[in-house]
Amino acid sequence: MPILAWKDSFLLGMPEFDDHHRHLAELLNKTHEQYTINPAGGALETVLLKLADYATYHFQAEERWMEEKGYPRLDRHRKEHDTFTEAVAVLEKECLAGQATSAALFFFLAEWFSTHVLESDADYARKP
Ligand SMILES: [Fe+2]
Repeated sequence: MPILAWKDSFLLGMPEFDDHHRHLAELLNKTHEQYTINPAGGALETVLLKLADYATYHFQAEERWMEEKGYPRLDRHRKEHDTFTEAVAVLEKECLAGQATSAALFFFLAEWFSTHVLESDADYARKP
């Protein structure tokens, strides 16, 4: 049973971005699996690579859409994206050094999903 069961209430009504967010939820669930096995460590290399990839294509796509639509809170939104990208880069370095923990990654992703995806992303979907 995944820790985060996908709900239709997560949908923005924008299929490309909704698919991206569904993928993020899968990565969050994979991280939680590692957390239940080994919270102080965990096999995180693959999920971190996928998160870095996600940050590149998903954030570029969202920001491009916001630019096209003249979304008024693009700067603030972009800063949140940059924070995510930097945090993943730090976790990748820690992973290479054998210091990344599935606990840290899981709680980071859970916070990101609840505050960024469900609040900040929901905002641009409501106010294009
Ligand atoms: Fe976003």
